This record gives sequence, structure tokens and C-alpha cells, in this order.
Amino acid sequence: MIPVAEPVLTDEDLQSVQDALKRGEISGSFGIALKQFEEEMAAYAGCKHGIAVSSGTTALHLAVDAAGIGDGDEVMMSSSTNIATALAAYHNGAVTVPIDSEDTTWNLDLDLVEPLITPKTKAIIPVHLFGHPVDMDRLMAIAKKHNLVVIEDCAESHGATVRGRMTGSFGDMGCFSFYANKIVTTGEGGMVVTNDDKLAERLRLLRNLAFGTPRFLHQVAGYNFRMTGYQAALGLPQVRRLESIVAEKRRIAQTYNKALEGVAGLRLPVELPWARNVYWMYAITVEPAFGKTRDQLMQYLAKHGIETRTFFCGMNQQPFLRAQPGYRDIPNPVADRLWTTGLYLPSAVNLQQASIEQISERIRLARTEA
Ligand SMILES: Cc1ncc(COP(=O)(O)O)c(C=O)c1O
Repeated sequence: MIPVAEPVLTDEDLQSVQDALKRGEISGSFGIALKQFEEEMAAYAGCKHGIAVSSGTTALHLAVDAAGIGDGDEVMMSSSTNIATALAAYHNGAVTVPIDSEDTTWNLDLDLVEPLITPKTKAIIPVHLFGHPVDMDRLMAIAKKHNLVVIEDCAESHGATVRGRMTGSFGDMGCFSFYANKIVTTGEGGMVVTNDDKLAERLRLLRNLAFGTPRFLHQVAGYNFRMTGYQAALGLPQVRRLESIVAEKRRIAQTYNKALEGVAGLRLPVELPWARNVYWMYAITVEPAFGKTRDQLMQYLAKHGIETRTFFCGMNQQPFLRAQPGYRDIPNPVADRLWTTGLYLPSAVNLQQASIEQISERIRLARTEA
């Protein structure tokens, strides 16, 4: 089976972990690897501070808490996202307001944001889906006008830029994931980046059980969301070669683009003129003209040893969110359609050109073969 994702770790990555372990950097409380990883990832993302945590999910949870968002507040977010984005609001007592997708980039449709703002709306979480950035210049202007906190979900967008500026550096905070299938991986892991000194201090406090003075007197309720030193050591060399990882992702996308050009009924990923798409995963949608449904195509490819995954189910369809007091039933027809028509193809950075051509040929054959 050609997998949708595969971690590619170098000897240098492994050596870095071994070195950290030999230095005794087994916890998330001390050591040089953690500090270096935080500093270099934050700098890469164009931010002053990086606060490493245990996952992308906990990064988002921590960011929402640090922003002071809580009971009854409304948090707008891209409907088409990993459930982790909504969990960050939910576990802080806030209500998710799902914003439908646009048809081109599949990111949240900025035209829909302003009419949905109420006095309860406190924050917005744009998700840079599959590596294509949201137009953050436009989003920040809306957020400024309505005094909204902006938390960028950069789980899929390491290195993606908007008019040359890195995702993660626009909002009050940016949240990265370093899960096994991400552009930089520490196995499990995440990071909040910010340029705000006060937020950084609060994020660090909350991440580490909110120890006080004296140490065991706690003014606020914190979390243990720490990342270990040896995980940071795994991520550090990857941050240093991030531009070359992004170049590989872009090479894969260009190869697919060429191989799948002109296939009736397939819509391929876009890159708007102001954007650098990092193509975390090469995602496509299957339209009626293809002649087979998305599910039929996935089954056909699986039969031929090619793994695929569907797009996300929109936040407007999640039963536990819909059952939350204060939830507003907002239709998301585009996100609904993407959930049934979208899939992504194998996109690991070690995927060879021949494999991409073979996968693309299979997709062409799927139109006519049973
Ligand atoms: C858009 C998005 N947000 C958040 C997450 C959560 O990250 P993690 O799996 O590291 O908790 C993921 C992926 O896993 C994601 O794709």
C-alpha cells in the first residue's frame, strides 16, 4: 500500500534525539533542545516566542485559554477542519460558529464572517487547510474592526506564506502540530507562536501546571501540556531544513498537477497569486463528470494498493457541538459538499515521481474500469 503519509527521518534527526537523551533531556522542563526548537521554529514562523506543547490539539486549547475565552463566548472557525480546532473552544466552554468554505482554496469564506458576528463573538480561528493559506491580510482587517482575537491553526501550513509573510505571524497566536504526518514531526507535539510578550508568559505558565510563588501555590488552573526535550531534539533539524521539505512538497504537487491535468471531473488544488501553498497533502475533489463517486474512486485505488483519505466532516455536522447550549445552526453547503467529494492522495516527501505517475494513471483508469 502506498501510504498517504510517511515520516521521513534522517540520520541527523536520530542523532539529535540520541544526543538529547544522553544529556538527560527526557522531560519538558529543562534542556537545551527544547529552548532551541522553540526559538528556531518561532523565528522561522516570523514570531518572537514559541511555546512547545504536547500536540496541535493542546496548542489550540492553550491558546484559547490564554486569550481569556470562556463560557458562552462564540469562536468562529473554518468549518472544514480537524475536530481539534472545535475542541479548543469546547473544552474552554466556548461555542463554535462554523464558517463555510470557499470553493477555490477550501478555506473559510471571508465574505461570510462579518454578517455572523454577534456581541458574543470573541475570536476567530482560520485554518490554513492542506497547506493553502487563508488571506490573512483581509482576515486581520475584519478582526481588527470587530476586536476579535485571531488564533491561526497552522497544523497543516508550516512554511505557507501570504504575500511573502509566514502563516502563524499574523494572528495574536499561531498553533502548529508536529504529529507524525505533519510537515515537521516530533511524533506527537505542537507549538504556539506569538509576538505578544504577555501572551507568551501566560502560555508558558498555563502549559506547566501554573506553578506559582511559592512554587506549589497556584493562582490559576493550568495544564501539563509539556513537550519532552528529546521530542524537541527530533524536530530541531527538521526546522533547519524546513525550506527543503517545503520544496519537496511543492515538487510532489507540481508532478501531480501535470499528471492529472485535464482529467474530466477532477478539481485540483489551487495556489492563489498571493499565496505559497505548501501542499501538506495533495487534495482533490471528485465532481459528477468524473463518472465515479469519491467513495468509488477511493475503493478502486485501495484495491490497487493506494491509500487515500477523505476531507474533514464540517463542524456544522458534529453532534456534540450541535448539542451545546447556544449553538447556532448555520448552513455550510460547501463544507458539506467537500466532505462527500474531497479526498487526498499519497503525499509523503519521499514519494517518487514514478509513484505519482502510477497513482495518476490509476485515477485516469478508474473513470472507465470497474
Ligand atoms: C487543522 C488541524 N488542526 C489541529 C490538528 C491537531 O493536531 P494534533 O494531531 O497534533 O493534536 C490537526 C491534525 O492533526 C489538524 O490537521
